Amino acid sequence: MGFRMRAAISLFGLFILWQPVALLAETGPLFSSQERWDRRYSGEHYIYGVAPVTFLKEQIKKIPRGKALCLAAGEGRNAVYLAQQGFEVVAVDISPKGLEKGRKLARKRGVEIKTVVADLRKYDMGRAQYDLITDFYYYDPALFERIMTALKPGGFFILQNFSTDQPDTGHFGPRNPAYLVRPNELLNYFARYRIRYYEDTVIDLNKGMHRGRGAVIRLVVENSATE
Ligand SMILES: C[S@@+](CC[C@H](N)C(=O)[O-])C[C@H]1O[C@@H](n2cnc3c(N)ncnc32)[C@H](O)[C@@H]1O
Repeated sequence: MGFRMRAAISLFGLFILWQPVALLAETGPLFSSQERWDRRYSGEHYIYGVAPVTFLKEQIKKIPRGKALCLAAGEGRNAVYLAQQGFEVVAVDISPKGLEKGRKLARKRGVEIKTVVADLRKYDMGRAQYDLITDFYYYDPALFERIMTALKPGGFFILQNFSTDQPDTGHFGPRNPAYLVRPNELLNYFARYRIRYYEDTVIDLNKGMHRGRGAVIRLVVENSATE
């Protein structure tokens, strides 16, 4: 066997061996969640774009201005938009790199956002602090009780997340069912409160790396009891 052939076989072997390592690095325990997201956000460009989620833009018209908490705010596209709309914004994310880009975007748009680097699994949101809490594309039902406690009476929670239909619908978004919303799941979680909007649908997404068909659940909950 010639030198070139041996070299090609060795390179192919290295490539095959690298795949599980690369997969672990992306999804598994080789890097912490913070390291993974910092790596994703390390470039100059905004991976989810700089325009807010369309559903937020549509819903915000109906919501009184006040203090807003953006959960898993990433590179700040929604937080900065809310600041531009007159909200006093706190943006929380596990990635310092993402939030740094969020502050940069805010400066560029001439607004301010407060940023907090924190792991939401342990983050204390306080009690009756916010008029609005948002959660886009970070799904953890364990947060819901803390979210409703952190809202002022009459405050709003807005969420958009991929549903369990997404793996068969689009080529992006999580595949792990733990990060996908099941049909009617949110109606049950929030049954005690006024659900102002609920939609289980497929839409065309066109921002950043979310481009194409997206199966999403959209929700607006008001912190008012139904009885
Ligand atoms: C899919 S991105 C969505 C970003 C942003 N909401 C948006 O729509 O542009 C998910 C975000 O969740 C953040 N995240 C992941 N695990 C987290 C955790 N345990 N605590 C806080 N943020 C976390 C990531 O850093 C990332 O910014």
